[in-house]
Amino acid sequence: VAPLKVGIAGLGTVGAEVVRLIETQARVLAGRSGRGIRVVAVTARSKAKKRGVDLRGVEWARDPMALATHPEVDCFVELMGGAGDPALSAVEAALAAGKSVVTANKALLAKHGIKLAKAAETHGGALNFEAAVGAAIPVIKTLREGLAGTGISRVYGILNGTCNYILTRMEQEGLSFAECLKDAQRLGYAEADPSFDVDGHDTAQKLAILASLAFGTKVAQSAVYVEGISSIAPEDLRAAADLGYRVKLLGVAVRTAKGIEQRVHPTMVPKSSSIAQVMGVTNAVTIDGEGIPPITLVGPGAGGAATASAVVADIADVARGIRANPFGRPIAQLHDTKKAPMERH
Ligand code: NDP
Ligand code: HSE
Repeated sequence: VAPLKVGIAGLGTVGAEVVRLIETQARVLAGRSGRGIRVVAVTARSKAKKRGVDLRGVEWARDPMALATHPEVDCFVELMGGAGDPALSAVEAALAAGKSVVTANKALLAKHGIKLAKAAETHGGALNFEAAVGAAIPVIKTLREGLAGTGISRVYGILNGTCNYILTRMEQEGLSFAECLKDAQRLGYAEADPSFDVDGHDTAQKLAILASLAFGTKVAQSAVYVEGISSIAPEDLRAAADLGYRVKLLGVAVRTAKGIEQRVHPTMVPKSSSIAQVMGVTNAVTIDGEGIPPITLVGPGAGGAATASAVVADIADVARGIRANPFGRPIAQLHDTKKAPMERH
């Protein structure tokens, strides 16, 4: 069988690690996929920048659009970020050409996910985005495939590694918010514009994607109430600790009789609760399914290796010919999101 030919746009924290993983795991991936996976072309802003990976024999495409429409590329992997161009146009072009797309870009999916899923549906390519929520945690597949036959009433958790890392180090080491954020950026956890992390928007984008999968609704980031952590100081965390609590940035999506309630805000959780034990860059997502006890998935929520792990799994699915409905069902069956008023839970 011919190998799957992959084009990767973006060779930063995640993209470079994806190239490395495809090379080092080649035999395992070929075994699991039944065929080889070969990176044939890449692109980024700077051709000169050292990436720490072997790109000999790999073509450098002029720009993301040239890569997305490259005749040799079967699977376009978008790892540049941003809800607009060049990511949007390149992904649209790849899908329109009938190619499969893998992306970790939650900002793009939260804004244009339904339009892109429709393009995938129309032209027959896959649109895979496991890495967009919870990095290495297979939460998309869990909601889409594992719980396909289960009604979901609530999805909630810690969905941003940067914020949890900052809150953990501020509490444990008494460091300032700015110092912790700087370290999160150095470690490759934060977004290119870290205000998306600390102001809660990254969590809101991920929550909107999860809510769509959980409740069969169209992704609606604008329906999410958002509050971030940037005004929290070490003394606030100490005061919470004195009362027996920890502060966590939670994303919560609940199905109510009045519609879907979606909110992101710092929350005081009892220190004895399991969610309070989730520290550092770790994420945790709890899914309340009807007729079964809650399921909690915990794992690394950001960073090059953790994210590349999910991206490469998505590429392997394309190689195996698996093509799921991106948001769990045909687009025509997704309902508009009816926004419910916020209530206490
Ligand atoms: P980086 O900023 O480290 O890398 C971005 C890459 O995209 C760089 O190689 C950059 O080129 C390239 N790029 C940016 N703009 C353009 C452009 N206009 N044309 C061509 N190339 C461009 O980001 P990350 O790797 O951290 O993130 C990539 C994606 O993965 C984002 O969508 C992010 O939200 C998502 N993600 C990231 C996670 C993480 O932990 N880092 C976790 C989960 C998802 P150059 O290097 O030359 O500047
Ligand atoms: N900036 C994001 C985070 C990356 O810190 O969670 C993972 O999506």
